[in-house]
Amino acid sequence: GNKIRNAKLVLLGDVGAGKSSLVLRFVKGQFVEFQESTIGAAFFSQTLAVNDETVKFEIWDTAGQERYHSLAPMYYRGAAAAIVVYDITNPASFTRAKKWVQELQAQGNQNTIVALAGNKADMLDARQVPAEEAKAYAQENGLFFMETSAKTAINVNDIFYEIGEMSTIL
Ligand code: GTP
Ligand code: MG
Repeated sequence: GNKIRNAKLVLLGDVGAGKSSLVLRFVKGQFVEFQESTIGAAFFSQTLAVNDETVKFEIWDTAGQERYHSLAPMYYRGAAAAIVVYDITNPASFTRAKKWVQELQAQGNQNTIVALAGNKADMLDARQVPAEEAKAYAQENGLFFMETSAKTAINVNDIFYEIGEMSTIL
């Protein structure tokens, strides 16, 4: 039979990295050029067929602004998965992503699947974070890594699918 499994997922990352845009793409299949900065956090859900199961993602899209940093543990504690997002055109956002990974490793749940998303992969001419550097960092830290684009939809469903699949073996 077709089982439904709930998976709590949180997105973390710098202001403007594209967390809300990735969620909007995944949940509604849409993209907007002028996405408003998130206040606090926003909740979404979306289901995805993964092998013989239906995974129902319960998604917390957190705000990247520093003033909301102290709220983050409420969302990542108890999460089955976290997607840490940076913008491939913005090295400061990659630095911020590494800080999130450190915080998750120190304060988060040991079993949380952590994925690193190098977003805005459509903006190759403006790239400042080499894919190889991020890939090596992810490998060293046991993270799943993909470059994504909320704008063109590249790898957006794929990253959720991979997380859904990884979470079946827990
Ligand atoms: P906060 O809510 O402030 O933490 O930001 P956020 O991480 O949610 O970023 P948001 O999704 O609001 O995106 C910021 C800006 O980047 C918006 O103007 C988006 O249109 C743009 N953007 C997001 N993803 C992409 C992408 O994949 N490609 C391009 N070209 N632009 C993107
Ligand atoms: Mg947002």
